[in-house]
This record gives sequence, C-alpha cells and structure tokens, in this order.
Amino acid sequence: MEEAPKVEWDDIAGLAHAKKSIQEIVVWPMLRPDIFTGLRRPPKGLLLFGPPGTGKTLIGKCIASQSGATFFNISSSSLTSKWVGDGEKMVRTMFAVARRHQPAVIFMDEIDSLLSQRTDKDVESTRRIKTEFLVQFDGCGHSRDTDRILIVGATNRPQEIDEAARRRFGKRLYIPLPDRDSRITMARHLLRDQVHSVDEEGLGLIGDRTEGYSGSDMDGLCREAALGPIRDIQDIVHVRLDEVRPMTLEDFVVALTQVRQSVGDEELDGYRSWNLMYGSLGE
Ligand SMILES: Nc1ncnc2c1ncn2[C@@H]1O[C@H](COP(=O)(O)OP(=O)(O)OP(=O)(O)O)[C@@H](O)[C@H]1O
Ligand SMILES: [Mg+2]
Repeated sequence: MEEAPKVEWDDIAGLAHAKKSIQEIVVWPMLRPDIFTGLRRPPKGLLLFGPPGTGKTLIGKCIASQSGATFFNISSSSLTSKWVGDGEKMVRTMFAVARRHQPAVIFMDEIDSLLSQRTDKDVESTRRIKTEFLVQFDGCGHSRDTDRILIVGATNRPQEIDEAARRRFGKRLYIPLPDRDSRITMARHLLRDQVHSVDEEGLGLIGDRTEGYSGSDMDGLCREAALGPIRDIQDIVHVRLDEVRPMTLEDFVVALTQVRQSVGDEELDGYRSWNLMYGSLGE
C-alpha cells in the first residue's frame, strides 16, 4: 500500500459515462449501503479496459482519493513474483484485511498479467494464485451479501482475460480514446499554469489535429510544445526566467510533427469489438 496522490474527478477529461457509472457503483453505495442491497447491490468487480494512456490508472487513483473507502493498490507482479505458495497467501491475506476494513476498494492495475487465460504452460504457482483469487472474489465461505468490497481491475488487454475472471467483473467499462472536446479540455488543463498565447481558436486547431491521440499522447504533445521556447534560448545558463518567451500555437504545430498518436486503428477495432461483445454499453 502506498500514499495515494490527490486526483479529483475534474482532473479527468471527458469519460462522462465512465464517471457516472463509477458514481453509481462505488460512491453512492458507500454513502447509502442501506439502499443498495438485494437487487441493487453493486457489482463486486469493475473492469476498466481500453487503449493505453486513456486514463484507467488515473481513474483508479481518483477512486482512491474520492471514494472514502479503504483503498488497496495491489500490483499483479507483487503477487506473482513471490516464493511459491506466498502468492496465494498474499491474496488470502489481502481479502481478509479488506473484509476487516470495509467498505474497501481493491485496485489491481494491469490485471491481465494475473488473470490471463489459464494455459497448460502456466507455472503451477501462478495457476494457484489465479484460482485463489477467483475463489476469494466470490467470497466463498463468507457472508456474501454484507461484504462491501469492490475489486477494480484495469487492463489494456481485455482479450487476454480468463473467461471465469471476466464473468466476475460484473461491470466492464470501455475507456476509449478522448474525443475532440476532451482533447481540448486536456490541453487547456495542461496549459493552465504556463505562460502562453494560445487562444480558444488555437485550442480548437489543436483539437482538430490530434484525432487518434490518447490522453498520454496529449500530455506528451504539450510537454514537447513547452520545450519550444526553451530551444530558442541562446544562453540557457544566464537567461532570466521572465525572458523565456510564452508558448505559442507555432510551438504546438512543430510538436505535432514530433509527437504522434500511439494507438493504431486495428488495435482500436479490437477494443471496440470486445466492448460490443462483453462491455457494459453506453458509449
Ligand atoms: N481522461 C484523461 N484526462 C486527463 N488526463 C489524462 C486522461 N487520460 C490520460 N491522461 C494523461 O495520460 C497519463 C496516462 O494515463 P493513465 O496512466 O491513466 O493511462 P492508462 O489508461 O492507465 O494506460 P495503460 O493502459 O497504458 O496503463 C495520465 O497521467 C494523464 O496525464
Ligand atoms: Mg495504467
């Protein structure tokens, strides 16, 4: 476990549908457990899937700082890299501690590495960790209806997840690439404490020219553009801070040639069809 950084819902651009669903299954049930029982009981598992760099980990951090639940951040590798037998014990302990500290959210990033299809080639120990995880997920031997533990998994390889594990994630949310408006929001957000001369029209142009960029591509683009003014400085050692010129739209135009989109169209098709097949629709 580690200290979670503060992330607010407003820090996440776009993804209105995902944010709303998370309110319903994470935030409200924490506030009113008496209402959310029986049929209204929230799912035990939430899977966030989508292309790399679209904000899945960011959403996890946001749930951590906003939900008010005890938050466990478990990396799949910390479970699998231990001595034989230890991994299973870790899984069991983690669920036991979570039960003791309800309501709890267990966030598992890059969950495909833990819950990938069980093959014959699996090392015996990883197979046992997976099985233990699935058993614990079901809350075997415990009072099922009163446990308030939510498992949030994030992955950019949903196709690789074992079908038994897939079923346990009752809600599967597609986190797509940002649309034009979201990309503009991101750029505006990133520029907010920079000296710059990019106006709304300029932001619109950036939005137009970044079709297919992910959130992290947008981040990279703005970082690259921010270096533009620095590259113009002759004498970096002696320059005064107020002599650095403001960032301009021209810096972005140059940066656009350097930072390209990182997700290919075929990959996108893969996510879309997985979403159609297994996703909780709404996008
Ligand atoms: N919707 C968003 N709003 C604001 N920033 C975003 C958004 N999506 C991505 N970013 C930026 O991109 C960075 C990477 O995002 P994040 O780590 O959440 O991606 P990810 O979906 O977990 O990717 P991966 O599947 O590769 O783990 C964030 O730190 C943030 O700067
Ligand atoms: Mg991530």
